[in-house]
Amino acid sequence: MSQSRLSTALEQGLLSLPAGPVSVLRPPAGYDLSAIAPDRLRISHGFRPDYEFWQATGAVVSVAPVAAPTTIVVLPRAKTLARGMIAQACALSGLVIVDGQRTEGVDSLWRELRGRLGEMPAVTKAHGRMFWFNVSDRLTDWAIAAPAPDAAGFYRQPGVFSEGGVDRGSQVLAAGLPAKLPARVADLGAGWGYLSAAALARPGVQQIDLIEAESLSLDCARLNVTDPRARFIWADVTRHAPDRAYDAVIMNPPFHAGRAAEPALGQAFIAAAARMLAPHGQLWMVSNRHLPYETALREKFRNLAEVGQDGGFKVFHATRPLR
Ligand SMILES: C[S@@+](CC[C@H](N)C(=O)[O-])C[C@H]1O[C@@H](n2cnc3c(N)ncnc32)[C@H](O)[C@@H]1O
Repeated sequence: MSQSRLSTALEQGLLSLPAGPVSVLRPPAGYDLSAIAPDRLRISHGFRPDYEFWQATGAVVSVAPVAAPTTIVVLPRAKTLARGMIAQACALSGLVIVDGQRTEGVDSLWRELRGRLGEMPAVTKAHGRMFWFNVSDRLTDWAIAAPAPDAAGFYRQPGVFSEGGVDRGSQVLAAGLPAKLPARVADLGAGWGYLSAAALARPGVQQIDLIEAESLSLDCARLNVTDPRARFIWADVTRHAPDRAYDAVIMNPPFHAGRAAEPALGQAFIAAAARMLAPHGQLWMVSNRHLPYETALREKFRNLAEVGQDGGFKVFHATRPLR
């Protein structure tokens, strides 16, 4: 592995860390922290697959960041979330280190922060930048407010999928669901709960499990779906084993991991749906027209039909899951 920006800065003496724990916010699986003794690390992550990765390394991991003399903010893609994490680091720390890829907007953030706080040291390497500064109380306007409902009554917050409103694909799927649904339903990758709310509005549902990897999304889903038939499960869909097989799965699967389009993740969701369904179980799924999911659906289900489409989206209904 080529040397990371963090290792470079520490090994070349450009950066020295205060004694004590180092809190690291949202490092993706595999992020290089080898320059810091493992017992000093306090990892926080709300995305379950990354959380599980760090847990498996033996690191101390939590969902919420903890106070520590040093905080490393690993930039996420969502700009408002990135700013909120920096404001949070300022509230919990002394030295704040920000590390990110150019594609995640690290350079514009660095320019903006220099404009607000003055010059700050930086290391550029491998299509990214790391910079650091002592905490400031001049970034409190970046703090993320508690989610508030929109005109339709839905709560969302920075870092959730379709933060700006209802996703068009999900709308197409909600419209394509049958008038009545079976008793036990799972919403895989449930996000902030839009599809589950639509399912619960249909007669027949006795229980719905909202299975979602991002804790920020699930927090909003709890506010959006207050029906007692709903259960909220923070899990990686590709690894989760339900307590009982489902009669139906509904899903608008993720089509990218990070920035790259990643049909493999959607295909893993299709395999997970087949695995979680009872033999009589049914799947309703929406996908972008151009995504190559039909082969995976035919491999995992005996029967497949396209039951709706709109613009760039199509809705599939699949039955007779194969394991
Ligand atoms: C396309 S969005 C759909 C969200 C929601 N169902 C809606 O209709 O608005 C896919 C969702 O899958 C979640 N996700 C991604 N990878 C996951 C995984 N491995 N396990 C569970 N959820 C995952 C994402 O966080 C995102 O909320």
